Amino acid sequence: MKTFGYQTFGGPEVFEEFTNAEPQITKDTQVIIETLAVGLNNFERSQRAGEFGGDKFPIIPGRDVVGKIIAVGKAVDNFAPGEVVIAHAGPAYATKVKTTAKRLVKKPDSVSVSKAVTIITPGITAYNAVSYFTQVQAGDTVIVNGATGGVGSIVVQVAKKLGAHVIGIGSSKNETLMKELGVDEVGLYDQENINEKFANQADIVINAALDGKNPSLISDVIKDGGSAASVGDATDLSNKPNVKFEHIRPIDAEHDQIALQKLAEMLEDGSLTVKVFKELPLTLTGVVEGHQLLEQRHAPGRVVLVK
Ligand SMILES: NC(=O)c1ccc[n+]([C@@H]2O[C@H](COP(=O)([O-])OP(=O)(O)OC[C@H]3O[C@@H](n4cnc5c(N)ncnc54)[C@H](OP(=O)(O)O)[C@@H]3O)[C@@H](O)[C@H]2O)c1
Repeated sequence: MKTFGYQTFGGPEVFEEFTNAEPQITKDTQVIIETLAVGLNNFERSQRAGEFGGDKFPIIPGRDVVGKIIAVGKAVDNFAPGEVVIAHAGPAYATKVKTTAKRLVKKPDSVSVSKAVTIITPGITAYNAVSYFTQVQAGDTVIVNGATGGVGSIVVQVAKKLGAHVIGIGSSKNETLMKELGVDEVGLYDQENINEKFANQADIVINAALDGKNPSLISDVIKDGGSAASVGDATDLSNKPNVKFEHIRPIDAEHDQIALQKLAEMLEDGSLTVKVFKELPLTLTGVVEGHQLLEQRHAPGRVVLVK
């Protein structure tokens, strides 16, 4: 099998192709899948650039994969070879991935592998932000910073489905996209002072902007007593002492599987729209080009690698 990784931190060109032994089932709960699509994430760009450190090379990144099951362990009775699954598993920059059954959900037949792979890390993050960290309820006013991104666009749609009033914050070039996603009101961070415009209006704030940009948004726009969750670090909330703040973080495989199942159903019934910006081949050239696109930051949709 092939894997794509690097032996030193740096730009997209540090990626190399490796040839590895074929994966084998060694535990009864394991599953081996042949990769059909890989989703690229900002985390992998930061990781490759050395922002998280580490010295165990080579690093083979990736946690988002859609693939066809080619082998299952004896204890796996809910998945079978030949089924196509959505997996939060890795290393995903590989032509085959070994994981366990609890990290999979079945891909709906009507959903393409490219679209299915976009709901994994961004979708789990978004779903958990809405349902676990802030517990959005019908009628809540929810402000979503980064509403145009992979995480934020799914936050918007899940919150809308729950019956919330959603205010989306993004750049002016993405205003139409936010309206298409179904936001009730729009804030354009490059054209207006959104902290003032929406001061003290939100029951819930979810900050899904790149690197948690504009951390003071939460303290400015949330009502005291509200709930906030952010991909960024904790923020000064001394002016709103009764706000509950959560840093959005991974929970566990059980929550991930619930999130993936729900999002796969939403993709299938058409209540969730995801945007694939670029499909590239699952080759070394595709991986390098994909990371060059991640470097540009403002891609209007997800970058995916397909077999
Ligand atoms: N903690 C976790 O478990 C977890 C998991 C997944 C992702 N993340 C993090 O979440 C963040 C978003 O990830 P993503 O995959 O959704 O990224 P993405 O698709 O690149 O989206 C980035 C979003 O940030 C917005 N943005 C950029 N600059 C901004 C600014 N100055 N003010 C307000 N918004 C701004 C963008 O808006 P425009 O394009 O309209 O400018 C876009 O909506 C990343 O930092 C990522 O590392 C964390």
